[in-house]
This record gives sequence, structure tokens and C-alpha cells, in this order.
Amino acid sequence: MRVIVVKSPQEMGKEAAAIIADGMCSKPHYVLGLATGSTPVPLYNELKRMHKEDGLDFSTTVSFNLDEYIALPATHDQSYRCFIDEHLFDDINIVKGNTHVPDGMTDDIETHCMIYEAMIEDVGGIDCQVLGIGGNGHIGFNEPGSSLASRTRAVDLTPETIRDNARFFKSADEVPKRAISMGIGTVLEAEKILLLATGANKAKAVAAALEGPVCIKVPASGLQLHPDVTYVITEDAASQLTLRYRS
Ligand code: F6R
Repeated sequence: MRVIVVKSPQEMGKEAAAIIADGMCSKPHYVLGLATGSTPVPLYNELKRMHKEDGLDFSTTVSFNLDEYIALPATHDQSYRCFIDEHLFDDINIVKGNTHVPDGMTDDIETHCMIYEAMIEDVGGIDCQVLGIGGNGHIGFNEPGSSLASRTRAVDLTPETIRDNARFFKSADEVPKRAISMGIGTVLEAEKILLLATGANKAKAVAAALEGPVCIKVPASGLQLHPDVTYVITEDAASQLTLRYRS
């Protein structure tokens, strides 16, 4: 695994975008797995800049988002579909039909999740999966206790995650309590994984994921089983690491 420690979220965005752009240039029809939340915003800003100023071409790129709240329509301003459109897709030349976000309004969640997995398989799998990490070590909405072999499915959010995400809603009561999330097993099938983390509030989770035992208490620790993971993290997020890593 590679650990790249950077000074700022902006530098994180540039490092991560360079890795993605490299991948996109080496393979047409690049398949991106995307995360939402605050952490990847500098990455998306840099990808938008690279599109605008350097001509980075997304016209054949395919994307799959990690997760979506259940019972929140895609038109809701806090839906993850809305987020990714606003923070990335609306400003690059990706074909909207090639972008996929789980449908939180589906009336048959199980079938929808199976189809989501089949669509990923049909395009040959995810080339690069972008991840953030929750303060409790979650990836996607795979909360502590999720099986490391889990697949796309409906999940219950923990009170901690609901509290963390309340900052985007008027109150914690408005945060949906359930979501559809790709599983850890789904994530582990990506060719390459880029985990991003910024802020001292992520330091404990980052250290547990990288240096702790692989266990379901820290879902991100499952990434230790993947052969190609790059962590791009700020100094404060790296502050509880004790080992030396190659960057
Ligand atoms: C979002 C997602 C979550 C976030 C995590 C960190 O699609 O999958 O796992 O990456 O909750 O969120 P932020 O970046 O807002 O701290």
C-alpha cells in the first residue's frame, strides 16, 4: 500500500486527481467509483480544472457512486445524486447516462442492488474506487459490523454517522436513517483504491484502518487485503500513524 501525506486538502486533491488522470489516459472507458461528502471535494475541483484547462476528457468515462440515502429523492439537495452532479458531473463532459448512483427511491431495493452489481460487472469492474472514511472507520455506508464480503445492499446508519451528516441537513432528525451502499466486498474488487482523508477528526480511524487488525469493527481495515490501495491524507489525518510508509 502507498501512503501519501500532504499538507492541505488542495494538495490531496491534486495528488489524487493526477493518479486518476493517469489511469484515464492509459485506458479508454475508464470506470470510476465515486464517493460523496466533504473529503473528495478538492479532488473533484481539480478534476474539473483539469477538464477545463488541460482538456482531460471524460466523454467515455463511466462512473458508479458508492451510496445513496434511502427515501431521499434524487432531486433533494442532499441526495448523493444531486451532490455528485453539482460537485463534478455538471462541469465535465461525462455522459450523464454513463453515471450511476443507487436509487434511494426504488420500491425493490434487493433487485435494484443486484442490478447495480451486475452493471458494474458488465463494464468490466471499477478501475479506480475513490473512498472517504468515516470517523468510525466506515467506507461507503459500510458501518462497523459490516461483513468484509458484503455486497451492495440496504444498510442502517449508526447514530454517529447520522450525527456527523446532520451538518448537511437542518437537523439530525432530517438525516435519513438508511442507505443503499456498495459492500466492502464490492469495493475490494476495484482494480485500484484511493482513500482520501483530511482533518484531525479522521486520525484515529485512519490509524485503525492502516495499522490495526483487519476486523469488522473498522470496515476500512478490510482495505489491508487489497493489493493496490493508495492513501492520500493530510498531515493531521496521518498524525496517529506510527509506521513508516513508502509514498
Ligand atoms: C460518501 C461515503 C462516506 C464518506 C464518509 C466521510 O459517499 O461513502 O463513507 O466518505 O462518511 O465523509 P466526509 O468526507 O464528509 O467526512
